[in-house]
Amino acid sequence: PKVTYIEHDGRSQVFDVPLGENVMRGALYNGVEGIVGECGGGLSCATCHCYVDEAWTGRVGGPSSQAEEELLESAAAEVKPNSRLSCQIEMTEALDGLVVHLPETQY
Ligand code: FES
Repeated sequence: PKVTYIEHDGRSQVFDVPLGENVMRGALYNGVEGIVGECGGGLSCATCHCYVDEAWTGRVGGPSSQAEEELLESAAAEVKPNSRLSCQIEMTEALDGLVVHLPETQY
C-alpha cells in the first residue's frame, strides 16, 4: 500500500509501505525527514507524530490506545484532532493511498 508523506515545507513523497508495517517505519526506510521515530515504535518517544489528512481520518481513526493518547500530549508540535503517532498506524489494504502531513519539528 502507498503512503504519501507531506513535509512541513510542502514537499511530498510517495512510498510503498509493506502490509503489516507501520507508517513510522515506512518513513524511516525511505529517509523521510519529518519523522524521527526515536524509540523504534515502542510507544515512548512521540517523535513519530503526524497529522492524518482530513480525507483519511475516518478510516485511520483516533489513537489506538490510551498509551498513544497520553504520549501524544508530549509531542513537540501542536497536537490537533487528527494527530497520531505514526508507529501506531499499521498498513492495511484499506489504507492504500493514505496521506499524512508531518509537523515542523519532532523535538
Ligand atoms: Fe516512538 Fe512512535 S516511534 S512513539
